[in-house]
Amino acid sequence: MSQLTAVQENSVTTAPTMTHIQNADVQARYQTRRSRSLALIERLLRSYLRPYLWLLGASILLNVVIAATTGALPWFIQQAVDEVFNNKNPNMLVLVPLGVIAVSFIKGIATYGSNVIMNYVGQRSTANLQRDLFARLVHGDLAYVSQQHSGAYISIFMNDATRLRDTVSNIIISLVRHLLTIVALIGFMFTINWHLALVYTVIVIPMGVSAMRRLGKVTRTASRDGLQETSEFSTLIAETLSGLRIVKAYGQEGDQIGRAGATIDRVLEFTMRAIRARAAASPAIEALGGIAVGAIIFVGGYQSMQGNLTAGEFMGFITALLAVYQPLRAVANMQTILQEGVSAGTRVFAILDAKDHVVDTADASTLDVSEGAVRFDNVSFQYEGREHPALNGVTIEVRPGQTVALVGASGSGKSTLLNLTLRFFDVSNGVIEIDGQDIRKATLDSLRRATALVTQDPFLFDDTIANNIAYGSPAADTAAIEQAAKQAAAHEFIAELPEGYETRVGESGLRLSGGQKQRIAIARAMLKNAPILLLDEATSALDTASEQKVQAALNTLMQGRTSLVIAHRLSTIMHADRIYVMAEGQVAESGTHDELLAANGVYADLYHKQFESEGS
Ligand SMILES: Nc1ncnc2c1ncn2[C@@H]1O[C@H](COP(=O)(O)OP(=O)(O)OP(=O)(O)O)[C@@H](O)[C@H]1O
Ligand SMILES: [Mg+2]
Repeated sequence: MSQLTAVQENSVTTAPTMTHIQNADVQARYQTRRSRSLALIERLLRSYLRPYLWLLGASILLNVVIAATTGALPWFIQQAVDEVFNNKNPNMLVLVPLGVIAVSFIKGIATYGSNVIMNYVGQRSTANLQRDLFARLVHGDLAYVSQQHSGAYISIFMNDATRLRDTVSNIIISLVRHLLTIVALIGFMFTINWHLALVYTVIVIPMGVSAMRRLGKVTRTASRDGLQETSEFSTLIAETLSGLRIVKAYGQEGDQIGRAGATIDRVLEFTMRAIRARAAASPAIEALGGIAVGAIIFVGGYQSMQGNLTAGEFMGFITALLAVYQPLRAVANMQTILQEGVSAGTRVFAILDAKDHVVDTADASTLDVSEGAVRFDNVSFQYEGREHPALNGVTIEVRPGQTVALVGASGSGKSTLLNLTLRFFDVSNGVIEIDGQDIRKATLDSLRRATALVTQDPFLFDDTIANNIAYGSPAADTAAIEQAAKQAAAHEFIAELPEGYETRVGESGLRLSGGQKQRIAIARAMLKNAPILLLDEATSALDTASEQKVQAALNTLMQGRTSLVIAHRLSTIMHADRIYVMAEGQVAESGTHDELLAANGVYADLYHKQFESEGS
């Protein structure tokens, strides 16, 4: 017995606490969602709509006109019934129809103007937003930008940005036009008969609002999941296109189609969920409208029997009630549209707000390259999310005009060193200096002007060969471009292409061989004519014959320049002034080719292996 009491007491004391916590939790979530929506709107207004405030103002005025004209119609109906049909007033017989026609015309013109203006503002500000997004991507830290697949970015540009635009125009139209119309119509109802108006506002509006809240929640989740899934779909498209050869070579067409099908189905499911919630909004309002009309006929009929309501007033009231239906539905939908916009905005602004770490400092100065000496002093670096550092206390000295080679096993940190030299990432520890200046204190622009990079996987833009070579050297003329191509042993094959230098090379240079792409990339670096040269296995994609040609070209290029060269094939770097052998992020040994062979260490080992395999 005492035990039972204890249990009861226990449940009595815990129950309210639980509810309390849950309520607080729900409330907090509601609050944050609400403040997030508000913050988003405020931000859109502040940063994207401000330049168009006067246009928005004009549109608001037009919407006031629309609301007023809509609100005037029930009054005309009331006048028609009472003055024309009941009192047979001949003046009103002419005035009422003329008034209706005039009001409808004004409303039509105002609606046209407001729609055009609103859409212009919406499209214009989305265009600005997309421009900002693009700039963010281009300026953004490599580390941040490479976190997401290109397909996901495309989806944000295309889907989320336009979703945001629709939200903005819808919200403004709803807030101004529809809300004002509702106020005008309900105000009119009150002037006719406040009993009826009160019945209407007390029954319909609260029920409508609570129904819409619930539906809004469904839409928001579905919309967020739908956009996420859409972004996965566009990732899949991008990935399939760029990896189409592999897909075919491994016979995975069916699998790819299956994956796409599953993603498309999920997008469909989420879209339908949102559509169902939105579609439920209209019947919900309609059903409420039915209740309202029934109640009004009952109360109005009773009042009329008492002699408190004329037929015209009743008709005017019903007209207002029917006219308020559409704007009320739009305003009720506003919540769900807003929620969709918030989930799109969250994704868009996440990109815009990403903080860059590799930036010009406030006191950044132009890099002054007189000789081109590069010095890595005890440099360490760890990629984000990696357990081990990619570089660990590396010290390398490259004297002006020297060629320094980096060799070592795959993953030993060679490319990372070049990435740091270009400040694609900033060192975690230590310092990199060019001519005695810490590169973190130089402007990014001047640093990158001082360096030319040829990467392991050459990248070509979807443009002509000439433009690809002149990329980064827009002032170069045709002669200079051809000269660079000749030096890079690329002129011959380019001349044989159907349109020569004007041949478009397509996405990532799809129509060229690996070695041809590589030679165009080298020509690009030649043309840039920068004092510091960074070559990451620039000749790795070439056959022996073209490698010799390109190597000769590179040797000319490297003359008088400071060069940092990564190579797997040791024959290409034998004549380097100094060779550094990297192992697990550290310098294992260094010296000239002869010194390293004599030392009989890692390098000698590598060399003998390559020599044997090439010799056999
Ligand atoms: N963007 C990145 N994010 C995370 N880790 C990376 C990134 N790039 C390289 N790494 C890691 O850093 C280490 C060094 O890579 P790095 O590309 O510098 O090697 P490498 O010496 O150039 O190799 P290879 O000869 O194969 O080109 C590797 O363990 C690699 O997995
Ligand atoms: Mg590499």
